[in-house]
Amino acid sequence: MDKFIINGGNPISGSVDISGAKNAVLPLMTAALLVDGETTINSVPDLRDTRTMIRLLKIIGAEVAFKNNSLAINASGVNNLEAPYDLVKTMRASFYVLGPLLARFGEVRVSLPGGCAWGPRPVDYHLKGLEKLGATISLESGYIMAKAKYLKGNKISFDFPSVGATGNILMASVLARGETRIENAAKEPEIVQLCEVLNKMGANIIGIGTDKITVHGVDKLHSVDIDVIPDRVEAGTYLIAGATMGDITLNNCNPKHLEDVIDKLKLSGANISSTENSLSIEKIELVEAVDVTTEVYPGFPTDLQAQWMAFMSIANGKSTIIDTVYHDRFTHIPELNRLGADIQLKDNKAIVNGVKKLTGAQVMSTDIRASAALILGAIMAEGKTEISRVYHIDRGYDSIEKKFQSLGADIKRINQ
Ligand code: EPU
Repeated sequence: MDKFIINGGNPISGSVDISGAKNAVLPLMTAALLVDGETTINSVPDLRDTRTMIRLLKIIGAEVAFKNNSLAINASGVNNLEAPYDLVKTMRASFYVLGPLLARFGEVRVSLPGGCAWGPRPVDYHLKGLEKLGATISLESGYIMAKAKYLKGNKISFDFPSVGATGNILMASVLARGETRIENAAKEPEIVQLCEVLNKMGANIIGIGTDKITVHGVDKLHSVDIDVIPDRVEAGTYLIAGATMGDITLNNCNPKHLEDVIDKLKLSGANISSTENSLSIEKIELVEAVDVTTEVYPGFPTDLQAQWMAFMSIANGKSTIIDTVYHDRFTHIPELNRLGADIQLKDNKAIVNGVKKLTGAQVMSTDIRASAALILGAIMAEGKTEISRVYHIDRGYDSIEKKFQSLGADIKRINQ
C-alpha cells in the first residue's frame, strides 16, 4: 500500500493546473449509457474513481477507451444490466448507472451501497423518485432490482436537494413519457453540467441551475462531445495550500464556482485575484479564525470542510465548523489532532482552537477529503509526516504529489 512522506514547512510557489471535476465526470460517464452510440468526454481526471467507473461500464458491456484524459464510451453493445457489489462497495457513485440503464433498457440490478466511512448515506430518495416514475423496486440479496416497461413523468419533491438523487432522476426522466418536475433539486455545478450535456444529447430540460427542474421526455438521445468542468474542490484545496504556504496561481479553474470559499478565504486574510479561468492567492501572514457552516451549493461545500479545518487549526483564535450536509463527516479530527491541532467535536460542530504550529506525525487517511486535509496539515507542519492509506486520496485527486512537488513541497510517495 502506498504512503506519502511529507517534510513540512517548505514554502510553495508557482502555478498548478486544475483537473476536470470528479463529481461531474462520474455521472457524465453513466449518462453515456443513455446513448446507442459513442460519447466522447474530454478533460477527464485520471483518478481511481474514474478507473473504477470505466471497469463498471465495461462489465455492463460498453466499449471504453481512455487516453490522454479523453474517454470514448460506446454504449451500443450494453448487454449486462448489473452493477456488482465489488465495485459499488468501493465507489458509491456506481449507483449512477441505475437511472440511465432503467430508462434505456427497462430494468437494472444494482448492489445496494453499504455504509460509508463517516455514516449511513442512504439512497431512499433515488428509489422513491424512480417509483414515482413508475418503476417497481425490490431488494434481492443485497441488490436493488428496478423494472419498468416504460417510465412516465411525474412530480418528485426531495426532502433534501440530493446531488446523486437529482442526477439519477434526471437521467431516468429524460427518456420517460411526458413531463417530470423535480422540486428541491440540487443546484451544484456538476448537476448543471449534467443537465447541459443531456440537453446537448437531445433531452429537453428546463430550469437548469434552479431548484425546480422540468424534464420533457424524448424518445432517443444522440452522441456528443463533452469537456468536463474544472474541479472546484481540488481548486479549493490548492487555494488553502497557497493561503498557508506561499503565493500560487491556479489555472483552468472556474472562480464563479468558488465564490463562498473565496469570501471565507478573504475573511481569513487572503489576498486573491482572479480572471475568468484562473485564481491567484498570496500567503497570509496571520491567518484569522473564520467560522464556516457547510451548505448545499452555492454555500460552503462539505467537500472542503476537512481542508478548512486543517487551515483553521493554525489560525489566530477559535473557530467553529458545522457540517449540515453530512453530520458525521469528521474522521479527520483525531488525525489532525495527532499533528498537534486542538479540535473538539460536539454533534456536527467542530470547535477549532488555533495553535501556533503543527508538528509532523504518522497519520491515516480515512476518506478522500480527510486525506486532503492531512496533506495540507502535513505541508504546514514542522518535521516529517507519514500518511498511510493514500488510496483514498487517489480516488479524487489527480497526481496530487506531482502537483505539490511542482509547487516546491517536499512530498513523496513510497510503496510499502
Ligand atoms: N440523502 C438521503 N437520501 C438519499 C440521498 C441523500 O438521506 O437518497 C442525504 C445524505 O445522507 C446527505 C444529503 O442527503 O446527508 C446529501 O447527499 P447527496 O445525495 O447530495 O450526496 P451524494 O450525491 O451521495 C455527492 C458527492 C459527494 C458530496 C455530496 C454533497 C458525488 C459522486 N459525490 O454525493 O462527494 O459530498 O454530493 O455535495 O458527486 C466527495 O467527492 O468526496 C464526496 C463525498
